[in-house]
Amino acid sequence: MTPHPTPIVQFDGVSLGYGDFTVLSGIDLQVLPGQVVAMMGGSGSGKTTLLRAATGQLHARAGTVQVFGQDMAALHGEPLLKVRQRMGVLFQGGALFTDLDVFENVAFPLREHTCISESQILERVLATLQSVGLRHAAHLRIAEISSGMARRVALARAVVLEPELVLYDEPFAGLDPISLGITAQLIRTMTDQLHCASIVITHDVGKSLPIANQIYLIGQGRLIAHGTPAELSASQDEYLQQFLQGRPDGPIGFHYPLTPAFERWLAHRREAIGA
Ligand SMILES: Nc1ncnc2c1ncn2[C@@H]1O[C@H](COP(=O)(O)OP(=O)(O)OP(=O)(O)O)[C@@H](O)[C@H]1O
Ligand SMILES: [Mg+2]
Repeated sequence: MTPHPTPIVQFDGVSLGYGDFTVLSGIDLQVLPGQVVAMMGGSGSGKTTLLRAATGQLHARAGTVQVFGQDMAALHGEPLLKVRQRMGVLFQGGALFTDLDVFENVAFPLREHTCISESQILERVLATLQSVGLRHAAHLRIAEISSGMARRVALARAVVLEPELVLYDEPFAGLDPISLGITAQLIRTMTDQLHCASIVITHDVGKSLPIANQIYLIGQGRLIAHGTPAELSASQDEYLQQFLQGRPDGPIGFHYPLTPAFERWLAHRREAIGA
């Protein structure tokens, strides 16, 4: 490996938002091949929003988002599809096709994006299911598997094309402690085997610290901290420590921030009822 491999994902001074609401600004982020990067932050802090910027679903209002060295704002049509084919995404909640069985869910990206034969699809899907421990569940319908198994099927689907970048949005949510540990370890081994880059969005500090090379913590509309798990654990930053220890008291607020959109909505509402 070269001393400075080209980053798979690079954010420089990125600002993101919806309408008149700026969710995040000044985000600098770098993900290298072979790295698992954990993206942490409270609910509503903008983690899924960051992921949308990486896939090109949302454009930066300021700064640049580069994936595989390409500026996502400049990509449209076929070149954008080509970049997306090099990424695997595990959506928040899994989003499996409930009318397809386990096998067809994992086969789906192969059918969409490759021209390989049915026998190659069979081998490839079974091998991917094997790596998540579900080879023998290939024939089951989605309604017949547990939520932990469904998460592993979603993981298999996200990696079946052997992507260079995998984005996992809350892969641990709703899993029991054993499934959670297994899923975390799977993300690490898949990243090592494929030598891809993985971004894992999670609230789970305990499970992500051991598998992550780098951790980014976002909150209050900005990047609060980033570093190796050891660096962050040793930091004295109050916000960071509150997050890492899950303390209810500290600088992290519970309330959704006040926006002009809310003020407009409330004014209309009051006007409508004459209050
Ligand atoms: N499509 C959208 N249009 C307008 N606002 C949005 C949209 N999606 C998200 N938001 C707002 O952007 C902010 C960040 O949302 P986001 O979904 O990125 O948070 P998150 O960190 O992923 O939260 P969670 O941990 O609950 O999934 C929230 O305040 C949310 O209300
Ligand atoms: Mg989210």
